Amino acid sequence: MMEQPVEELLAAVEARAKQCVACPLAQTRTNVVFGEGNPRSPLVIVGEGPGEQEDATGRPFVGRAGALLDKALREAGMLRRHVYICNIVKCRACVVENGRARNRPPTQDEIQACYPWLDQQLSLIKPLVIVCLGAPAASTLIHKNFKIMQERGLWFSNRYAPAVIAALHPAYILRQAGEAYERAYRSLVDDLTAARERARELRRLQEQMQPLQPEGDDQLRLF
Ligand code: URA
Repeated sequence: MMEQPVEELLAAVEARAKQCVACPLAQTRTNVVFGEGNPRSPLVIVGEGPGEQEDATGRPFVGRAGALLDKALREAGMLRRHVYICNIVKCRACVVENGRARNRPPTQDEIQACYPWLDQQLSLIKPLVIVCLGAPAASTLIHKNFKIMQERGLWFSNRYAPAVIAALHPAYILRQAGEAYERAYRSLVDDLTAARERARELRRLQEQMQPLQPEGDDQLRLF
């Protein structure tokens, strides 16, 4: 029997996620930001959660942090269409102050409530490399109490991928200035470059055992 393509399987999960009311963020969201990109990529990037622009558009990393991520990806030799991008939490977490909504980190309860979506996503994509952007993603996918400043750039593994690395979150980098900004940004480019190289190595090993199908995705020749 033919296996159902990963795109279709993910679309079915996304359709269910769009109806999710597992936590109170469902009441304030405009859109569920499920994730996007190439689900056949060996490299998946996982951020924290949607901000204002992402909530408004339903797409991950389309605000200022997203622009910085795009720039860093390009410096690391990749474009968005080469990777898959999602978040640990699919709906915007915010507080209303003086009539204005301000982003806040998702709570542990919200992260846990949303985890089944991430679990299904990563189980279907089966990446070779996961890049966690920021401490909440790293604490969810690598180990609890992850120390982003000490442990970013180091290799781990988890049930979803043989190689998992954490990098500084672009929103954190945007809050730095001068030398600190340059250092933080450089570390993001370095970690994305290391992730790309690792994905390429692992893809080679995988291909020796299981060559890409003739109709296989040309974009993946990058890795
Ligand atoms: N920050 C994130 O962690 N994810 C997004 O999608 C946008 C900003």
